[in-house]
Amino acid sequence: MDRKETIKILLYDVALEHSAIVQYLYHIFLISDGNITSEIEEIARQEMRHLKWFAQKVVQLGGQVVLDRLEDMIRIGGPDWADMLSMDVWAEDEAIKTYTRQLELVKEDSVKRLLERVIKDEEAHKVEFYELIEKVKESALGVPQQEQKADPRTVELLNKFLKEEYQTIINYLYQFFHSKNCDYKDTMLDLAIESMVHMGKLGEKIGELGHMPDIARVDFSPKPSKSLQEQVKAEIAYEQSTGRDYSRETASVQDPDIRRLFQFIEHQEEYHKHKLMEFFRLMNRLTVGSLKKENA
Ligand SMILES: [Fe+2]
Ligand SMILES: [Fe+2]
Ligand SMILES: [Fe+2]
Ligand SMILES: [Fe+2]
Repeated sequence: MDRKETIKILLYDVALEHSAIVQYLYHIFLISDGNITSEIEEIARQEMRHLKWFAQKVVQLGGQVVLDRLEDMIRIGGPDWADMLSMDVWAEDEAIKTYTRQLELVKEDSVKRLLERVIKDEEAHKVEFYELIEKVKESALGVPQQEQKADPRTVELLNKFLKEEYQTIINYLYQFFHSKNCDYKDTMLDLAIESMVHMGKLGEKIGELGHMPDIARVDFSPKPSKSLQEQVKAEIAYEQSTGRDYSRETASVQDPDIRRLFQFIEHQEEYHKHKLMEFFRLMNRLTVGSLKKENA
């Protein structure tokens, strides 16, 4: 197996982890018991680490990270929680089978070690999901209650923001994996993580209202800008308009919880804009500084 084929395998693994994360997010949003969702969240965070490690290996081997996902590996199940969780056991099982097969194929030691490590994690996850199923069955939890249905416009709005946050995460992670500028990478990872928090809060709200969150496919290949400066400028404008969207909609919704949520997110978008502006100034100062040096 040559380097190209190893990269191909690793990109498949990035997509597989991505699919598991999306599936687990659905379940976090749809299950309304905090004891259960906190455990799924812990597992989802681990899958994010797996995704990051596989993607970083791609970069190390000289490949290009693609943040795709596999639609047929996302199985939501339901409506009862035990059925959803059994889909998660299935997902872990598929991952174990896939990574075990790959272990036989790859030659690179570091990739082998990574696969071995991840297989151990997935095995532990599988056991945890089994235990969660038992918990749900014993406590007779997980028969979905019909809660008060929110007005469709509010749900539509929440889903629109949910999808935007998802797209933002993908865009920022893409920059994180591809950029060579350390400060920029750090900023992008930070903002991606905060966008994940936004996405989580929006999704939980939709689930709470008894509706289906919509984590549909987004565009996974953001167009790279000509320069980092242009890229950052576009991101500043984006954060600004996102903040405005949240602020405008705060006035349009009745539910005080949702208002508070929008205000909370708006405040963070404002901070994102400032973080990017700070980086932009720093970058310009450095560029101007080095130009002066060159001219001296
Ligand atoms: Fe994983
Ligand atoms: Fe897992
Ligand atoms: Fe956000
Ligand atoms: Fe933001």
